[in-house]
Parts: sequence; structure tokens; C-alpha cells
Amino acid sequence: MIQRLVIFGGTGDLTGRYLLPGLAALHESGRLDPSFRLVCADLKDWDDEQFRAWADAQLDQHASNTPADSRRAITAAARYRRADIQNPLEVAEAIAGDGPVAVYLALAPALFPAAIQTLHSAHLPEGSRLVLEKPFGEDLTSAETLNHLLADLVPEQAVFRVDHFLAMTTVQNLLGSRLANRVLESLWNSAHIAKVEIIWDETLTVEDRAGYYDNVGALEDMVQNHLLQLLCLVAMEPPITLSERDLRDRKVDVLRSIRTLTDDDIPRRTRRARYSAGAIGDRQVPSYADERGVDPQRRTETFAEIELALDNWRWSGTAFVLRTGKALGADRKEVAIHFRPVPHMPFGDAGSTSPNVLRFTLDPEGLTLALTVVGSTVGTLVPLTMTAPIHPPELPAYGRLLLDVLTGNPALSIRGDEAEQAWRVVTPIISAWSRDLVPLDHYPAGSLVPSGVGNSR
Ligand code: BG6
Repeated sequence: MIQRLVIFGGTGDLTGRYLLPGLAALHESGRLDPSFRLVCADLKDWDDEQFRAWADAQLDQHASNTPADSRRAITAAARYRRADIQNPLEVAEAIAGDGPVAVYLALAPALFPAAIQTLHSAHLPEGSRLVLEKPFGEDLTSAETLNHLLADLVPEQAVFRVDHFLAMTTVQNLLGSRLANRVLESLWNSAHIAKVEIIWDETLTVEDRAGYYDNVGALEDMVQNHLLQLLCLVAMEPPITLSERDLRDRKVDVLRSIRTLTDDDIPRRTRRARYSAGAIGDRQVPSYADERGVDPQRRTETFAEIELALDNWRWSGTAFVLRTGKALGADRKEVAIHFRPVPHMPFGDAGSTSPNVLRFTLDPEGLTLALTVVGSTVGTLVPLTMTAPIHPPELPAYGRLLLDVLTGNPALSIRGDEAEQAWRVVTPIISAWSRDLVPLDHYPAGSLVPSGVGNSR
């Protein structure tokens, strides 16, 4: 287990909201080595005490469920270093120490190429690992370039392109439900499943993340990574084991089977929109264009929906709809498996029935199955919905990911060829949208899913 973690971007939102809480949860679970040391590096002229005061406040806010002694243990293990990721001397000082180190780039993706080059000249100790946040690149070409740069720095096994969705319990349970039971897998194909919806609708707005979000938008922030990863887990062939090679080979197969959307398909199979002023509950929300840090000329979308087809034996004929939006009227975060109607209904006019739907709800984490059953009145059919919560996880998603980084298990991180395949799917859409082949619709904040192109899906 690696005992040193250095986070560049160590005073940023990601560190405060996810990484420090993840480490505190690891400490509480007893899985953190007692000699674990943390260095947070950033551009602020802080000393250790100023950093620790900030970190304590972040932990109090974002990890209030973790006992105080674990929160304090993390801040006590932390040091602060002022370092510019583009300055090899400062970076070398930040990573200096005995033995290998895990370096976490919690930075704007635009800084990745420079960061990798600086780390090269700063000489990472043998056996070190590198962690990169998404999005990995901004299109297929830039992802390929990043992969080449990384290959010169550390072996692929030591690169962790993280996607925290893969560490969520329900997401893990996509695999558990499919592969540890007989009951689902025999139905898991296009003969029985008409449509798979992978939905991440948020009431959350852009908040104070415009500096990042305005450069990426919904398609690159969520679809290129998180939602395509969920699609992989739903659609992949059963792997031999859950080791990194088997799991990632099978995910790459899925990505490779996704049919490339052409300029003719894109207006019919994708839509984009962004929120205008509105109210979410009793909260007034300004229009996205007026949010602090947003450049309205960029025409960044806050809602994206795409429909994909998979060209393989199992899934030919099933529609995969991926959708995400911010500032919507209700949270809906789930993978919904829509089964086909029964081939013959022997109940006469007992009532209309809805096809079965199996939902993996992602937040809160749970499972729901909609069945049609015989009603209490003779000759009627009624819907029955069975819902079960999923056991709360021992570790939050980032705790699990950090554990994998420190112990050197890359199974839940994205391999280089996987990232490139995901960009192969999304790059034609980015290109078509930038040429305005699809209009940028608007929806008032707080509305339900915006109507418009493709809403009949
Ligand atoms: C992040 C996206 O990766 O995932 C955010 O950048 C999104 O825009 C978030 O809100 C959703 O995940 P979580 O775990 O924060 O609910």
C-alpha cells in the first residue's frame, strides 16, 4: 500500500467536498495505513495551519457523518505546499519523500498535459501512481495525446482515470444483480428489453463551478464519462473475473460496439438545452447565462440527451437513452430497464398493463421492480411496484476510489483505450453541436424535463 498522497488542486472544491471526506471515511474503516501522509499543493500562499483550518471546516461540512477523531486524523496527517503545477522545482518539492507516491491531479483538465510534462521533469519515484479526474481530454485527439504523454511517465497499470460513479453501491449492484443471479441474465438482451434509460437529472445548478463547467457542459461533464460507464456495466458480456483486465476488456467491447452517430442522425437522436431563470421549489435561480463566471457566448448546454444503438448480437434492436440536466424540477438518477410487452395477453379486457420496468436508483441507492399482478376485484390487473433500499456502503465512492489508488487496484478506473472509445462516441456530437446542427433549446430552471426535439422517446 502506498503511504503518501499528494493532491495538486489541494484547496479546490473536489478536495474539500470529496477527497478529504473519502480519506476520513477510510481512516474510520481502519483501512488507512497509520503512517499515511497527505500533502495538499496549490497556488495559495498558505501555511500548514491555514490549510488545516480550511480542511477542518470542509470536513465538518461535507463529512459530518464521519466521527470527529477520523476527521481530525486526516488534517493532522496533512501538510500544505505552495506549488504551481507548471513549475518543476515546486512540484519536485511537493512530491519529495521516501518511496512511491500517489499523485492526484484535482485540476482543470486543460492543465493535464502541462502537469504530466512537469511531473516528468520532477522525477516521480519508481512505483508511483497517477490519478486524473475526468474529463480526460476534450475530444478523441486530445485524449490520444494525453495517453501518449502518460505512457512516457508511468505504466498504464499505474494510471487511475477515476470515475466515481463506478464506485457507487447501486452501480456495483448492476453487476451484482446481473451476474450473481440466474433470474435476470437470461432476459438480458434485446429480445426482452426494448429500452434502457440512463438518467441523471439534477435539481443542482452550476453552483460556483462555472470556471470548470462552462468549458465542458453537460455532454462532456456527465455523458462522456459517467453515463457511458453505466451503459458499459448494463450492456457488457459477463466477464471471467472482476479483475481490471477482464472487466475493462468487456467494457471496451461495449464502447466499440456503439454505432457512430452521423450528421444525419444527430438532429434526430440528440438534443441539448440550457436553463433560463426560474424557481426550484422556493429557490429563485438565475438563468445559466447570468450565473457568475459563465460566458454566454460559449453557448454551453446544461442538458444533454442522446440515443445510442449497439451493433452486437445481444443488443441490436434495443435503444439506449442517456440523459442529464442541471437545475431541473426533480432529481431523477437511475438506470431504468424497460422490458418489452408480453407476447400474448390472455386476460381479455382486464385492464391495460404496463411492461415491466426494473430500476436501479442511484441516489438514493435502491432497486425497484414494476410488475403487473391480478387485482383484488375479479378480472382486473393492477400495477405492483416493489422497492428495496440497497445496503448503505461502508465507504463513500471517493473513499473506495482512494483505497484502490493506494492499494494499486485499477479495476474501477478507466483504461486509456476505454477513454478514447468513449470520446469516439461523443466527438461527432460535439462537432455537430458546434456547427449548430441541433438547436440549443431553453428550459426554465425548476421545470421537468424540457420538451423539444426527441421528446417522444
Ligand atoms: C460530477 C459532475 O462528476 O458528478 C457534476 O461534475 C455532478 O456536475 C456530479 O453533479 C454528480 O455526482 P455526485 O456524486 O456529486 O452526486
